[in-house]
Amino acid sequence: CGIVGYIGHREAYPIIIEGLKRLEYRGYDSAGIALFDGSDLKISKTKGKVADLENRSNETISTNGHIGIGHTRWATHGIPNDVNSHPHSSNTGELAIIHNGIIENYESLKKELISRGYTFQSDTDTEVLVNLIEDVKQKENVKLGKAVQIALNQVIGAYAIAVFDKSRPEEVVVARLGSPLAIGIGDNEFFIASDASPFIEYTKNAIYLEDEEMAIVRIGKDIKVRKIKDDSLVDPYIQELQINLEQIEKGGYDHFMLKEIHEQPKAITDTYRGRLLRNEALIKMAGIEDNLNKLLNANRIIIVACGTSWHAGLVAEYIFEDLARIPVEVEYASEFRYRNPVITENDVLIAISQSGETADTLAAIKLAKSKGAFVFGVCNVVGSSIARETHAGAYTHAGPEIGVASTKAFTTQVTVLTLMALRLAKAKGSISNSDFHRHLLELELIPQHVENVLKSDSHIKSIANTYKHSNNCLYLGRGYNFPVALEGALKLKEISYIHAEGYPAAEMKHGPIALIDENMPIVVIATKKGHYEKVVSNIQEIKSRKGKIIAIVTQGDTTVKALADHVIEVPETLEALSPLLNTIPLQLLSYHIAVLLGKNVDQPRNLAKSVTVE
Ligand code: G6P
Repeated sequence: CGIVGYIGHREAYPIIIEGLKRLEYRGYDSAGIALFDGSDLKISKTKGKVADLENRSNETISTNGHIGIGHTRWATHGIPNDVNSHPHSSNTGELAIIHNGIIENYESLKKELISRGYTFQSDTDTEVLVNLIEDVKQKENVKLGKAVQIALNQVIGAYAIAVFDKSRPEEVVVARLGSPLAIGIGDNEFFIASDASPFIEYTKNAIYLEDEEMAIVRIGKDIKVRKIKDDSLVDPYIQELQINLEQIEKGGYDHFMLKEIHEQPKAITDTYRGRLLRNEALIKMAGIEDNLNKLLNANRIIIVACGTSWHAGLVAEYIFEDLARIPVEVEYASEFRYRNPVITENDVLIAISQSGETADTLAAIKLAKSKGAFVFGVCNVVGSSIARETHAGAYTHAGPEIGVASTKAFTTQVTVLTLMALRLAKAKGSISNSDFHRHLLELELIPQHVENVLKSDSHIKSIANTYKHSNNCLYLGRGYNFPVALEGALKLKEISYIHAEGYPAAEMKHGPIALIDENMPIVVIATKKGHYEKVVSNIQEIKSRKGKIIAIVTQGDTTVKALADHVIEVPETLEALSPLLNTIPLQLLSYHIAVLLGKNVDQPRNLAKSVTVE
């Protein structure tokens, strides 16, 4: 989500609307604004884009006022509709809030507030937070800043918030944990935003709040920044901004794809946050708990998807069968729906889709439903068609993916599917307690490991430079990493237009080996565990035919290093989790080759982000 606020001498409305448009890359399923006109608080909000908000606001509210907050939403809790849009106000109508992030313990807080007479209009975690602040304010008889601080100490999750109190119309209280928040400092005016793009033409001076910090932004006063935990004052660092608008929207990266590749540690954390409870040795996913028996008693699981999501489905096949011992079939949605498949009421269909709008996947779901199967969705976009059409589901929480070539959507899909497989394995007793615990432990380490793999960026770029003029490229992997080879090849095809194929490493000798000569780069996933020795033999076979070997290896590997032309190291992890790490260098390799060739990385020719035609 994107948040914007203004407090000062100018008209707030045009600044907030323009700022929200610049933040639409952070999500755009609904938008809203709260303005204070000197006597009253006016809220206008709607499902849709900021342009829809403009139309609605012009018709429904007077848009004058010098203080206001606005929001463009990327839904996490509750479908995108008018009611779930931000800002949310408290029961008394005194407070208005905008929020980017997820409050994990909102359900228990909500229960508590309901028992004290609070009512809720929306399904959002945010409406719970604003009423919690209201409740604290009344109970403790404190001002807004203190109430926000006390409330946030009861909250588990991630947030960037801006809160306005009608009874203190000269200030806005902001806070951050896990989601970004910048304060632009003008001449007796302040700007609040998720990044500096909404205020870049007004001021170059900004404070970026750190995690667990809050600030009271007050006209006529210096900004006071405090630690949320213990109220201690922090000396704020005022930065001088040196970037332009486009750079800011891409978070300083050259392309959305690169930004999204680098967002993966956070995206994966957001995906398992609140679901992986290691201390309690539990995985909790609402969509699964409610339908546990259906899933456990399934004759088989059929996974349908397209493109990169289909590759995530292939990884899931390995992990579901390996850990949960449930038979799985993975199908291209477009094939499945047209081949008169045998589906019964005892089958479970899992549909995987980043956008939640892919026409073939949607049609496959409808077909399976008509045959009585239980249908579970794994989507990124909340409230999307597939999310609504399925009986239950789990969101990936990757945040908006703008680059057409899917990156963080894939790794977060694999994360969700891994959590599901572990949850079912635990319920079935097909995994030992110690193995289960080990998987939780290692899964929690993945974001840090991904961070380490990302450090190989310049090494990978130099490999990309060596092979950028290749006409063909082969990707090989076995077991869990066969789908990773397919995904690596797809990434290269999509954005560099170099022909690439993914193959099971052992299958190479039944065909693709004929292609190998001294000009052919071959990317081999050769990490330890799994079928390491077998893959090493495959590498020998390539070497004796003079192919150029780029190997993904486990840190410290010496055997493959001695054979390969280039190695890219990744940290050691469990085999079932290795696709989450091994995919990263392949994304970077494709990215750099495409950039070096001068291709349009974010919008490759002929492709679309969301394919809503069959
Ligand atoms: C398009 C995109 C791919 C994506 C596929 C499936 O082809 O270009 O990146 O993997 O659709 O999309 P979905 O939104 O269903 O995951």
